[in-house]
Amino acid sequence: MNKLNKRYLTIQEQIRTYDHEYYILDTPSISDREYDELFKELHHIESEHPDWVTSESPSQRVGIKPASDFSTFKHFTQMLSLANAFNEEDLRNFHDRILKNLGNDQDINYFCEPKMDGAAISLIYEKGILTRGVTRGDGTLGEDITSNIRTIRSIPLRLVGSKHPFPDLLEVRGEAFISKSDFDVLNFKATQNEEKVFANPRNAAAGSLRQLDPAITSSRPLAFFAHGIGSCHGKKFKDLQEIFEVFSSWGLPINNLNHLASSITECHKYFQRIESSRDTIPYEIDGVVFKVNELSIQKQLGEIARSPRWAIAHKFPAEEVFTEIENIDFQVGRTGVLTPVAKLKTVNVGGVNVSNCTLHNLDELTRLDPRPGDGALIKRAGDVIPKMVEVIPKKKNRSNSVKTPKKCPRCNAEIVFNYQSEWRIVDKNTSKLIKRFSSNYEAKKFQDENPGSKFNISEERLKTQFIKCSGGDNCPEIFQGKFSHFVSRKAMDIDGLGQEILFTLINKKFIKDFSDLYSLADHRSELEKLERFGKRSVDNLIQSIRKSASVELHRLIYALGIEEVGETTSRNLANYFGTMNLFLKSSFEDLIAVPDIGPRVSSKITDYINDMENIKPLQKLLNCLNVINPDLKTASKDMKFSGLQIAITGKISSMSRDEVKNLLITEGAKVTSSISKKTAYLIAGENAGSKLDKAKTLGVKIVDAIDINNFINDPEKF
Ligand code: IVH
Repeated sequence: MNKLNKRYLTIQEQIRTYDHEYYILDTPSISDREYDELFKELHHIESEHPDWVTSESPSQRVGIKPASDFSTFKHFTQMLSLANAFNEEDLRNFHDRILKNLGNDQDINYFCEPKMDGAAISLIYEKGILTRGVTRGDGTLGEDITSNIRTIRSIPLRLVGSKHPFPDLLEVRGEAFISKSDFDVLNFKATQNEEKVFANPRNAAAGSLRQLDPAITSSRPLAFFAHGIGSCHGKKFKDLQEIFEVFSSWGLPINNLNHLASSITECHKYFQRIESSRDTIPYEIDGVVFKVNELSIQKQLGEIARSPRWAIAHKFPAEEVFTEIENIDFQVGRTGVLTPVAKLKTVNVGGVNVSNCTLHNLDELTRLDPRPGDGALIKRAGDVIPKMVEVIPKKKNRSNSVKTPKKCPRCNAEIVFNYQSEWRIVDKNTSKLIKRFSSNYEAKKFQDENPGSKFNISEERLKTQFIKCSGGDNCPEIFQGKFSHFVSRKAMDIDGLGQEILFTLINKKFIKDFSDLYSLADHRSELEKLERFGKRSVDNLIQSIRKSASVELHRLIYALGIEEVGETTSRNLANYFGTMNLFLKSSFEDLIAVPDIGPRVSSKITDYINDMENIKPLQKLLNCLNVINPDLKTASKDMKFSGLQIAITGKISSMSRDEVKNLLITEGAKVTSSISKKTAYLIAGENAGSKLDKAKTLGVKIVDAIDINNFINDPEKF
């Protein structure tokens, strides 16, 4: 190595140290001028010796603009989200649940951190070199925004320090954010340049990360704190405290307000302390996060519904603002349900202008009884939609209570009422009430199980649950809503089909059912002639549609817009049935066997899959798609219970039966209710009866429900 080359490496090292001092420690040891001089020298050497330059050089933060959109990247370990606590009681319940789950009364240390109001990202370091930066996305798939992440000065392009060797692969999880003062400057500049201002620092951070041109991201004052770890190959950690100490030694920015608490009471004190100093903290936070410190306990606790059982976010109470109600409208949703919405005199709540506020349902409308001219308190927290907390009635000349419409405000079709009912089993002779059920199915089942008895079923309407437009696909709102849901990000994720474009495509009869989207490419020249369409936007749209044709099963199920079938239910269905074909063949009984699905949702799904009006177009759609189920395929070999049949009987005290089922199914098990020779294990809880005997006779391995956590973690020991 010659002298200049040595000098070149030294300058790089120095700049890294100064960056660390400036951006992370906040204690610069040289002046800006000296720093600039050093950078100039670096540039000079690099211009003389371009072959020396590697991507970790501090000069290489701003790379070239990528050609098109970001590509997707599958996180090595899923990025989970956090359950919320809103008061001390929620927090104590969280702690009690943990103790109950662990089944012993041990002391738990909690790692306490501020909850940053920014955008979650994942950084991948391979042998200490930053090789990728990814958005959270849906937790499984994110967007590869490496070139943008590289522009964030506080994120080291190369880890530093020699105390701990760098892992072969490391996923650092954390929050990219913009401080309050940087945000004000950013918006001030935007106003001066007559550009759009950002509603709040979180939107500014998220928007900056998704710029196609890294030069723009580089001009945004993004900062970063690490708050977690994903996959890590080549280094073992004991607890979070150790992780953050090591991260810090590697030059990763860690929040200095983090704290280790040895009791839940101490956690609550931390919450109060941070809440009272919230205004003096230089960046936006919307609460604090508590995490079980010890990793082995975290592992034992696992996760539920994509949130870890070992962590919780304690949110600050939301800000409340007073405004005036101008009117109450009814909006038609994609399922035809009419939702009352209050039109408000525009007001700023927590950094966002609010002029509409949903009242969710008729119950809420009756409870609040808002009328035009009344005052209202509106609350909004973080990304939570605005909520009407209280109505302050107008003193004089108060208008009448709002009436539910008789006709659909969009298509004028009749409104139908949907009642919340209860089904009662009554004695045929005496009319005496025997039992109540919340679904017709359960009542019928009871009747079937008691043959010969003289029972009648009667439906009792308790109240109007919701009102619905009867227009079906003839109602433009329902029809467009269906498409808009189908193409949305968590469903088929087709870009370029905003409301106006969808409206045009529907209006001009380009799309009559979902499959028509996949033949839009045949109408390219006609599309290019439409208003708002250019060659480029048509190209992008067609490409995005093409990309969406390879779709994960759970997304497709969600995209269909079946009533009551949200994201989590769709995932459960996809995991359980594995293929679209099996899902479409499922019966009511099959469906209620799926974790977290009860009779109400089952009957909605059964209605959907037995209706030819749905199935015919769906078959057409399936011909255009390649439905994949990567969770099943790729994971199978790594799943602990891949292909094994497991039965459960008796009462399990440490968790609900659905939770156990969920855990087993996500690890590849087929959970059955009966025992056969094929059953690999029987999990036996309290009061296990005949199934336990049968299992013993058949020689099925038996797991005591007390050991459930150990079994799930390490089945080979059983
Ligand atoms: S931990 C498994 N720690 O909150 C736990 N999250 O709903 C995963 N967030 O998407 C997150 N500050 O963007 C964690 N100190 C903190 C956080 C934090 C902000 C965000 C994060 C995540 C969301 C969780």
